[in-house]
Amino acid sequence: MSASYHYTFNIGFKETSVSIEQDVPSIETVKTAAVLRGTGSSAKPAALVVCDTNTASLAKAVIGKTDTPLCVLETGEKAKTLGSVTTIILAARNAGLGRDGLIVAVGGGVLTDTAGFAASCYMRGCALAFVSTTLLGMADAAIGGKTGVDFDGVKNLAGAFYPAQAVFMPLVALRTVPSREIKSGFAEVLKTAILGGYEHEDLFDGALPGVGDIDGVDGYEAFAPLLARTVEYKGRLVEEDPEERSGKRALLNLGHTFGHALESAAGLGALTHGEAVAWGIARACELGVRLGVTPEPRAQRIAALLERFGYETRNPHPAITDVVRYQEAMQADKKKRSGRLVFVVPTGESAVCVDADEKQAE
Ligand code: GLY
Repeated sequence: MSASYHYTFNIGFKETSVSIEQDVPSIETVKTAAVLRGTGSSAKPAALVVCDTNTASLAKAVIGKTDTPLCVLETGEKAKTLGSVTTIILAARNAGLGRDGLIVAVGGGVLTDTAGFAASCYMRGCALAFVSTTLLGMADAAIGGKTGVDFDGVKNLAGAFYPAQAVFMPLVALRTVPSREIKSGFAEVLKTAILGGYEHEDLFDGALPGVGDIDGVDGYEAFAPLLARTVEYKGRLVEEDPEERSGKRALLNLGHTFGHALESAAGLGALTHGEAVAWGIARACELGVRLGVTPEPRAQRIAALLERFGYETRNPHPAITDVVRYQEAMQADKKKRSGRLVFVVPTGESAVCVDADEKQAE
């Protein structure tokens, strides 16, 4: 029998159900799950399915023989705009969605972030469900309610915390994700394991996503327990700090301050998000050891794990052609955090936020 995992998270004022299963859900299954978690909607709300050009066939599989309308956006970060939000809102109105209507986003993180933000605005907030189709989306974006779009060249400048009521993660969708994108998502899986202190467990042995058909077991099915652990850890962390106020949720930024600076210094699009985050985790370990926060043996174990999965950990990264741009990107990150440069560094069993300015002053 195929692996399946189910969780329920209480995120702020909403409940999110998550199902990791082999196949894509039908629209009826999505409606039932979303409406059960909703606030007094009718049993079968009108729905709009939103996808991008890469996920249209999966979205059609969700719709099946029903006449549920489909809104198809362009693929990629360039479509993460207020223009796409407008397109979704118009499609929802044309489809006759009321306040109890349901927007179902079928796609990766860019698509679910965009459609999630549209759902947060439509009639002051309609029901929302995700069918997450990439590893990056499953391991991170689909859980926790961060929605939004880029604006004026700034990533996620406009957005809202708006968790989906129901999230589906069909393993079958991963079969068509390019291996470089799988590796990108896998960095978030590793990051979460480091936060949870379970990166040394044998979950990582032989459970590499995409390694197909060992003794008749689909590589993604073998990988499902590790994905489930990732989803559960992130969901529980977000339950404790849904809007990133107490510092708990900020731990999910492990590797991201260095990683974002690298992404920008390498030229946007040259590296995947996960390649940059993995490199950032190696830098966070170095910083942690220097500050006396990360025990040296753990830093070595994490570096070995990153290398085992083929991530670049050398410093400086060979893709940094412009050191000034790297430093400027760090400063831009500082601006976003009220002038403080905050890093997440591993501890003995998890990680902690450190304020680099305060540490320098000590
Ligand atoms: N991607 C980090 C978070 O969900 O908080």
